[in-house]
Amino acid sequence: MGNADSDIVFQSYGRCCNRESFFIDFYDRFMGSSEEIRALFKDTDMPAQRHLLRNGIMQLVLHARGMPDTKLQALGCSHSRKGYGIRPEWYGLWLDALLATLRAHDPQFDDAIAQAWRRAIEPGIELIRGAY
Ligand code: HEM
Repeated sequence: MGNADSDIVFQSYGRCCNRESFFIDFYDRFMGSSEEIRALFKDTDMPAQRHLLRNGIMQLVLHARGMPDTKLQALGCSHSRKGYGIRPEWYGLWLDALLATLRAHDPQFDDAIAQAWRRAIEPGIELIRGAY
C-alpha cells in the first residue's frame, strides 16, 4: 500500500505532528491570514481543536494512501453551509498555512516535499470543499 508521494508525506508529517508547537504555529498562520477566519474560532477550545486537526490532517494523508472516504465525508458535512459554513475559497488559505508551517517545522522540507504534499492531499481537501 502507499505510493511515493504518500510515503514522503507520511514521513514528513511524522517529523512534525508530535509537537504541539506545530499546531499552535499552524493556527497562528491560518488565523493571521484573514479576520473572517480568526472570527470563526473566537469561541473554540483551541487545545482541543489542535488535537482534532492533528487527526484531521492524518485523515487526509490516509486518504492519499487509499483509505475509505468516510471520515473526510463527515468533515465535508461539518464544514458545509449546513454546518460551519466554510466557504470554498478559504481552503486555499488553509493549504498555504499548512505548507508554510511544514516548511518551518520539518527539517528536511524542500520543494519536492511541498509538491508531494500538494499532490497527496489536494483530492481529500477537494472532497471536503466540494461538500459545501
Ligand atoms: C473543525 C479539520 C478546513 C474551520 C474541524 C475539525 C476538524 C477539522 C478535524 C473538528 C471536527 C469537526 O468539527 O468536524 C479540517 C481539515 C481541513 C479544514 C482537515 C482542510 C481540508 C477548514 C477551513 C476552515 C475551518 C478552511 C475555515 C476557514 C473550522 C471550524 C471548526 C472546524 C470553524 C469548528 C471549530 C469549533 O468547534 O469551534 N476542522 N478543517 N476548517 N474547522 Fe476545519
